[in-house]
Amino acid sequence: MTDQVVGLSARDLAATDPEVAGLLDRELERQNTGLQLIASENFTSPAVMEAVGSCLTNKYSEGYPGKRYYGGNGVVDEVEELARRRVQALFGAEHANVQPHSGANANAAAYLALLEPGDTVMGLRLDQGGHITHGLPASQAGQFYEWVSYGVDSDSERIDMALVARLAEEHRPKLIVAGATAYPRIIDPAPFREIADAVGARLMFDMAHVAGLVAGGVHPSPVGVADVVTFTTHKTLRGPRGGCILSTEELAPAIDRAIFPGTQGGPLEHVIAGKAVAFREAAEPGFAAYARQIVANAAALALALEGEGFRMSSGGTENHLVLVDLRPFDEGLTGKAAQTAGDAAGITFNKNQIPNDPRSAFVTSGVRLGTPAITTAGMTEAEMPEVARLLAWALRHRDEPGELAAVRAEVAALCSAFTPYP
Ligand SMILES: Cc1ncc(COP(=O)(O)O)c(C=O)c1O
Repeated sequence: MTDQVVGLSARDLAATDPEVAGLLDRELERQNTGLQLIASENFTSPAVMEAVGSCLTNKYSEGYPGKRYYGGNGVVDEVEELARRRVQALFGAEHANVQPHSGANANAAAYLALLEPGDTVMGLRLDQGGHITHGLPASQAGQFYEWVSYGVDSDSERIDMALVARLAEEHRPKLIVAGATAYPRIIDPAPFREIADAVGARLMFDMAHVAGLVAGGVHPSPVGVADVVTFTTHKTLRGPRGGCILSTEELAPAIDRAIFPGTQGGPLEHVIAGKAVAFREAAEPGFAAYARQIVANAAALALALEGEGFRMSSGGTENHLVLVDLRPFDEGLTGKAAQTAGDAAGITFNKNQIPNDPRSAFVTSGVRLGTPAITTAGMTEAEMPEVARLLAWALRHRDEPGELAAVRAEVAALCSAFTPYP
């Protein structure tokens, strides 16, 4: 038997490639024993991971079901059709494209379908919660289109809809993008639709962060309101890493062309199978309870953090995340330093600018904390004061390795009762 055949038949990664296996073990340990508070992350199910790790990774299937460039796609067609049907039913969408490799790809394709280079688009300011695909000058979209950014009201720190209306009237965009990456409030698609209609613009809703909350019925659905809805499948929706586009039937041909051949080659059918599994999971009654618990946990975490002396941007949260202003807790503490201390203590989150942050995006005066992953792990409101206490402890003693090690031990003790992958 040649080495190659042994390699093919061996199923145990630890035997064939101990180096990679060792790294996977260490990452699993990190996920199991630390507090995972990154708002855009989650713990996907073993069923989703089995689909993603399947033989579908071997198959080339450029095109769409029934219209592939290569042979042998009978099963793949069924997989992709199943994913499409499930996500259309989940969100009540006329059309779905499940091929985007990521949220950024979904957005790039939506822009390609709806815009010409040089067209004007409106999106949320990146330093007030918008995503890089909503107009960062260095991004592809930032280079191809003219972006006009709206922002949040400086007092309420909520999206200033009067400003959205005024800018739309003034700049007559072809497309308005709603949706955010670091915004703790419900984004109601209805007023965006009214503004878009008033100026003859299309409306795109990027629900990457809140897709699971929409699926679970705790946030208003933009499907049927916006012309195009994009999202990632790996955040609150708890599926594999990937993207998806929902649209009206009218826009379906343009959206499909914009994904393939517009912006992608062969789809990742193993990931699409994982998406199909996740869409089914999200349609189960338990998922609505999960979505409600995510939001309840975020609200409880916000209260507990306020008790520790932090300020919540916008005064609280209505979704899965809190945007924490660190300054009232400690004027000298930056988001960057907080993130580093958190890592040392086994508490994982990201630095994030708060609205009108005097510090740069690399330093920041804030952090973003999310509850999707710890909720999947089984935590409820009961654990949130402890989470806040451990975080405050780590940040208060951020320059003391001994204290951070003590926090790390207590974090591990807390997480031992909430292990995502026992
Ligand atoms: C609002 C929003 N859109 C798009 C994306 C991009 O998703 P991905 O990282 O899968 O490209 C993100 C990711 O954080 C996001 O928050």
